[in-house]
Amino acid sequence: RSLARTAASAKSHLSRRCYSVESAPERKVAVLGAAGGIGQPLALLMKLNPLVSNLALYDIAGTPGVAADVSHVNTRSEVTGYVGEDQLGKALEGSDVVIIPAGVPRKPGMTRDDLFNINAGIVKSLCTAIAKYCPNALVNMISNPVNSTVPIAAEVFKKAGTYNEKKLFGVTTLDVVRAKTFFAGKAKVPVSEVDLPVVGGHAGITILPLFSQATPKANALLSESDIQALTKRTQDGGTEVVEAKAGKGSATLSMAYAGALFADACLKGLNGVPDVVECSFVQSSITELPFFASKVRLGKQGVEEVLGLGPLSDYEKQGLENLKPELKASIEKGIKFANEN
Ligand code: NAI
Repeated sequence: RSLARTAASAKSHLSRRCYSVESAPERKVAVLGAAGGIGQPLALLMKLNPLVSNLALYDIAGTPGVAADVSHVNTRSEVTGYVGEDQLGKALEGSDVVIIPAGVPRKPGMTRDDLFNINAGIVKSLCTAIAKYCPNALVNMISNPVNSTVPIAAEVFKKAGTYNEKKLFGVTTLDVVRAKTFFAGKAKVPVSEVDLPVVGGHAGITILPLFSQATPKANALLSESDIQALTKRTQDGGTEVVEAKAGKGSATLSMAYAGALFADACLKGLNGVPDVVECSFVQSSITELPFFASKVRLGKQGVEEVLGLGPLSDYEKQGLENLKPELKASIEKGIKFANEN
């Protein structure tokens, strides 16, 4: 027994050493839209991440101030601000991960699709630059509508000859974060222990939380109507924030947290940490749709494996069928835009 304990302690010492900050490889992370509502707290959270050695903050305005401010935090990474299109190349060069929260957010009464006309063009031009300056980077797409901006990015990369489906991610982590919080409250279980997948896409009914797979099991008995209410609240979580902010934008702080969580998972995967699994909207063959959010195992090349949906309740099966036409249309809209503009 004591031998086993010694071996276990040696192993944990070794793994601590392997992933210690001192031996963590150099990693450059670029944030595009870094002066925005999401960009600023996200820049701060990435500055706190010991896996980052170089943090590039890019926006069309305001980044010198954000970068000067964040750079004073006494953590590992060096921070540089880049402003305006002629500095975009420098911001991107050598990046391992590029996070994109650039573009306009929703106001009350707007759907994510209403943002399409402005954000599609922004995403297209940023992805054109990524293809040129850091074609091997993992791209974390936050800009909405994610259901369309990810297919736009894929088309831009295909045209440039740099597309690698393992390296393009729609960030749906905030849906998972919300589902976990709402489930913990209703099921009376500790929120820090909750795990559950959210699949489909990132808008309205395309957001499908799989509460039937939630762990730990609920302490309070959840009825069918409780599950339906939790599902609806997760799908409308973004709108809840948009309405509470009453015209001042959408989720920024919780989104920055979720974006930082997902980027950290990407960095861990790149660094060879085993069994890093997060939900993300990626190229997928688990349904008939070309892009779909599900659990994904992250590795040294990006996506290591797109995991299946697992067993679904009848309610979830119905939700899956209901979301497909809308998700399909949003994907096709993105592809069409990229090819016509
Ligand atoms: P914001 O308006 O506060 O910030 C956007 C920033 O993007 C601004 O600083 C702006 O100057 C910058 N920007 C505009 N065009 C640019 C360009 N061509 N290159 C670089 N930067 C550019 O908006 P906020 O609240 O930060 O939201 C950003 C995006 O994130 C929106 O599209 C929003 O819908 C989306 N979002 C996504 C979520 C998700 O779960 N994936 C959740 C919440 C928001």
